[in-house]
Amino acid sequence: VNNLPRAVAWVDGALRLLDQTRLPHTEAYLDCHNIESVYEAIATMRVRGAPAIGIAGAYGMLLPFRDTHEPGTDNITVRTVRDIHVSVENDRGQAEVSLIELERRADYLVGARPTAVNLSWAVNRMLAHARELPNVDVPKLLEEARRIHAEDAAACRAIGEAGAPFVKAHPRLLTHCNAGSLAVSEFGTALAPIYVAHSQGNRIHVFVDETRPLLQGSRLTAWELQRAGVDLTVIADNMAAHLMSTGRIDAVIVGADRVAANGDVANKIGTLNLAILCKHFGLPFYVACPWSTIDPATATGSEISIEKRSSEELTHIMGVPISPPDIDVFNPAFDVTPAELVSSIITERGVVTPPYPPQLTCGQ
Ligand code: MRU
Repeated sequence: VNNLPRAVAWVDGALRLLDQTRLPHTEAYLDCHNIESVYEAIATMRVRGAPAIGIAGAYGMLLPFRDTHEPGTDNITVRTVRDIHVSVENDRGQAEVSLIELERRADYLVGARPTAVNLSWAVNRMLAHARELPNVDVPKLLEEARRIHAEDAAACRAIGEAGAPFVKAHPRLLTHCNAGSLAVSEFGTALAPIYVAHSQGNRIHVFVDETRPLLQGSRLTAWELQRAGVDLTVIADNMAAHLMSTGRIDAVIVGADRVAANGDVANKIGTLNLAILCKHFGLPFYVACPWSTIDPATATGSEISIEKRSSEELTHIMGVPISPPDIDVFNPAFDVTPAELVSSIITERGVVTPPYPPQLTCGQ
């Protein structure tokens, strides 16, 4: 697949993020040199999507708090794509870091966003690796962060292969939010089977929910599908029922932020609406995610902490006010789809279908 964007990279001893708040109009990159700037980028969704914030968190563990950082080094460097011709990856910093310091960094980072399990999964994996090292030196930790990153890319490809037959059988798909390249390290999760089927010459058409309030569909999914040459149509979130009732959609495919042990799925707010519609119209509802999104420690979806975000995300669009001032707003960022509404979960370890076998919970 050509032209897939790179949302997260480790370059010259800093975490480079494609600033997703500025897409699709501006392709700008941030270089985070300290952990506060990584936290800020995750909390404000400059980097977003469950696997991508996990990878950013893993690299973020390598960065110091600002107060211990070399004086004079910028917090964030913003570059446009034109400034980045050649990026020579240079793993600086032989310094050791204490376990206590790493635990402090982990505690801090997981507070940036609560719902996606991938963030805590990745920083805990970094901590577990550090505990096994005789000396906790930064290059060894960097190797582990790179492994997390590379495994995620491989998982996305495998999800693409596993899901492609479903996409070929249901070539007119609806997706919600962005579970593509921008949300992970490479092919994406929900978009991976679409990219694989497309690259094999199949004619796929993707209906893209715009995904209020932050428009990840119309800003991000539309942008990356268009760059990859996949046919798409953007719709408002309230149009899905009409499209289904008029026979324009064959299936829905979405990503996930956390899958509970019983198969309940937390994903972007509005996902549950689509799952209920699929049941009504007899359409398959597919979830695609890496195994690291399945959380055996969370028994059911009711235990998943749902992030509430600021009211301004609803009262403003791209900074422009659209509501009267001082109104009450409710803005949960995710919802939970019960397992019984999910046709299949497509993972890098294969496709699982409810009622779920113990494999969903014992494979970690
Ligand atoms: O709030 P966001 O944009 O981070 O929400 C992202 C989603 O809900 C995605 O569907 C999910 O993280 C899966 S990404 C492969």
